[in-house]
Parts: sequence; structure tokens; C-alpha cells
Amino acid sequence: MTAMLPESSTNQVFQSYGRCCQSERFFEDFYSNFMSRSDEVRAMFDDTDMAEQRRLLRAGISWLIMYARGSSGLKLHDLGKSHNREGYNVRPGWYELWVDALVETVARHDPEFTPALAHEWRKVLHPGIELMRAVY
Ligand code: HEM
Repeated sequence: MTAMLPESSTNQVFQSYGRCCQSERFFEDFYSNFMSRSDEVRAMFDDTDMAEQRRLLRAGISWLIMYARGSSGLKLHDLGKSHNREGYNVRPGWYELWVDALVETVARHDPEFTPALAHEWRKVLHPGIELMRAVY
């Protein structure tokens, strides 16, 4: 399964992500933003080593972008399985909170952020998120 978005979108988002990744604070701020949106979400990470989780998320976001650039969805499919009802039981609706938290965190960290870029981010994340939700 592959998804292809125009290179103009995926390049903008890839570069924006590169600017965000320059600071570890990006990932810290993302998780505090994400957890502040729901007590249920926060509780999911009670026993999690958050330093390791931030490291794993760094790769996970790049898989979502790569998928929109046309790479295979195998990694995201496996990730969807670890998150599904037999795994962490991440409710499909929580992915919306995840995307909102991510875009808001990008807005705070990327000095070149614009509303149009927020729109590109959402477009680029969408196919990979849908793939993960589909294996719930
Ligand atoms: C598309 C969005 C997401 C990405 C890219 C992502 C990425 C990851 C990655 C890479 C891991 C570690 C690998 C694994 O365990 O399979 C992980 C673990 C986890 N994720 Fe996600 N995730 C996403 C959405 C969510 C959402 C919406 C939740 C809801 C609470 C969530 C909760 C968790 C939990 C609880 C773990 C395990 C933590 C632990 O080991 O204690 N994830 N995620």
C-alpha cells in the first residue's frame, strides 16, 4: 500500500520537521500538549520511559512523512498493530488529538511556520494516520 502526495507538500513538511527536530524540547512540548488534551491519553503513558518514547516518536513522525512521499506502509502497518485494540488500544478518535497536538507544537517551534504550512502538515500526515487507524 502506498500513498503519494505532491513533492511540493512533502518537501515543505520534511523541512519544517527538520527545523523542529533541532531541539529536544519539540518532543517534550509535543507530549505535554498531547497529554493535556485527555486524561485517558495521559494515563496511557503512566509507566512509559518518556525519554525513550520521544526517541521512538522522532522516527515515527518521519515514517508518516515518508509514507506520504511514496514509501511502503509496512512500518506504519506494524505501528498501527502495536496501537490497535489488541495492543495499546489507542482509540481511533485519539489520533485527531495527536495530530492537533503535533501541528500546534510545530507552530510553536518552527520559526518559518505559516497557516498554509499547517494545512500541508495535516495533508501529509493524513494517509499514514488513516493506515494506522484502519488496523484498529
Ligand atoms: C500516528 C501517530 C502516532 C505515532 C507515529 C506513534 C508512534 C509510536 C511509536 C514509534 C511507539 C513505540 C513503538 C511501539 O511501541 O510500537 C509508540 C508507542 C506508544 N504509543 Fe504511539 N504513536 C502515535 C499515536 C499514538 C496515540 C494517538 C496514542 C494514544 C494515547 C499513542 C500511545 C502510545 C503508547 C501508550 C505507546 C507505548 C508506550 C510504552 O511503551 O509504554 N500513540 N507510539
